[in-house]
Amino acid sequence: MKRRDSFKKLTKEDVDFFRSVVSSSGVIEDADDLEHFNHDWMRKYRGQSKLVLKPSTTEQVSKILAYCNKERLAVVPQGGNTGLVGGSVPVFDEIIVSMGNMNSVRSFDEVSGALVCDAGSILEVLDKYLEERGYIMPLDLGAKGSCHIGGNVSTNAGGLRLLRYGSLHGTVLGLEVVLPDGTILDNLSTLRKDNTGFDLKQLFIGSEGTLGIVTGVSILAPKRSKAINVALLGLDTFDQVQAAFKRSKEELSEILSAFEFWDHGAIGLVKEHLAVGANDPLQSTYPFYVLIETSGSNKEHDDEKLGAYLEGLMTEGVVQDGVVAQDTTQIQKLWAIREGIPEACSKAGAIFKYDISMPVPVLYEAVQDMRSHLESLNAIGKGKPFTSVIGYGHVGDGNLHLNVAAKDYSKEATAMIEPYVFEWTAKHSGSISAEHGLGISKNNHLHYSKSQPMIELMKQFKNMIDPQGIMNPYKYLPNK
Ligand code: FAD
Ligand code: MLT
Ligand code: ZN
Repeated sequence: MKRRDSFKKLTKEDVDFFRSVVSSSGVIEDADDLEHFNHDWMRKYRGQSKLVLKPSTTEQVSKILAYCNKERLAVVPQGGNTGLVGGSVPVFDEIIVSMGNMNSVRSFDEVSGALVCDAGSILEVLDKYLEERGYIMPLDLGAKGSCHIGGNVSTNAGGLRLLRYGSLHGTVLGLEVVLPDGTILDNLSTLRKDNTGFDLKQLFIGSEGTLGIVTGVSILAPKRSKAINVALLGLDTFDQVQAAFKRSKEELSEILSAFEFWDHGAIGLVKEHLAVGANDPLQSTYPFYVLIETSGSNKEHDDEKLGAYLEGLMTEGVVQDGVVAQDTTQIQKLWAIREGIPEACSKAGAIFKYDISMPVPVLYEAVQDMRSHLESLNAIGKGKPFTSVIGYGHVGDGNLHLNVAAKDYSKEATAMIEPYVFEWTAKHSGSISAEHGLGISKNNHLHYSKSQPMIELMKQFKNMIDPQGIMNPYKYLPNK
């Protein structure tokens, strides 16, 4: 890919202007300091930005974008830089606008649960703030300690609580967004119902920084459940995983709050690479694991329901082994196994990550077929390009994380997996990006999930809102 000639190269005058807006403390130019902002969490993508700006107010963001738009300087908005599709780092020398200095809670309504905060607020910090008030963030991710709510909104992150609280398209009540020309779109509504005109905020949810910079978020926080239970199950087959899921909806129904799974390969990597691998309380290892969480208001009632559900599964041989966490510490320990999987995978070498959704009955076939495909190419095993194919994810949302561990991110290795995986997904009426987004890793494959007229309409929206194309260029929409 070539740098777009229409973008200006940064000059000293530009930096002086930015310094006048965000002061010297909000300007990073030192090569060592830039390093952290220029590469992504997976260390798969690397940009060459010479400038990071750290605004502290929406007005500063507005001045930055108005100037960049006028001068045709390309921009990458960056939150916690935990994205998994290369969207948060520059491709060439784009200016990085890092949102970490905008991290205050603006208001919280203890009656409705409407939280209004700056986009740079860290998800876990917000959740702690709400915990003290008896509420909970409607989303949770393994990256909660670093990711920003603005990044979550911009990727429409799914995560571990989507089964219960739904997607951000439902829980976000309003947004404050700075458009590429500097216009501040103030729609920080805290209303649950508002049918006045097009629901513009929806366009920015999941648009990955290509239409503007989200500076403020209004989100509906649910009441925090008083009674939480977590169980870890060991199972022999994916059919059993499905049976357990089906029954959980029938028998746990309103208290079911998460249903996650992982396979033998995933637990193997957690045990090999992370201390939390020792948290596994099961007697043996199993081909499949399920983590079930219930959240309700009456512990006795929930215990009884979960107990009956698990007994039914055991008696009928749907589940081979199971443990119910006895206290909060054990709950956290079980979750730590699940949340540790991405990090454990990242320690296994280069990781090709595919985040696909499809009907649950074919979900694990994606892993098995990929394994067979790589075996047929004689490409998997010791000394070969790939070491393992791992599956885990959000069964409750029909979302599989198919990870292929490789020696490196070579073009040859990529060509063995792609477009095979995208064709497979399209053939099964799935989505090539369930929750991580498109960034630079999936943008040119969008046609596997969206029709040409839809892609054309997306391009029209982009051109209308960002006619100079300065916002997060080369990504999200197909370059071809
Ligand atoms: P960044 O990575 O900084 O940016 C992501 C994208 O959003 C980029 O395109 C960026 O330009 C844009 N952006 C960021 N902030 C703004 C803003 N204020 N305005 C406009 N655009 C902006 N994702 C899931 O969906 N579910 C999971 O369960 C999940 N678990 C994860 C676990 C781990 C260990 C890791 C490393 C990642 C995980 N992710 C998950 C992916 C990632 O954490 C999410 O996509 C997260 O929402 C990104 O937030 P961030 O603040 O780090 O954004
Ligand atoms: C997860 O569910 O753990 C995340 O989406 C991250 C990943 O897929 O690795
Ligand atoms: Zn996920």
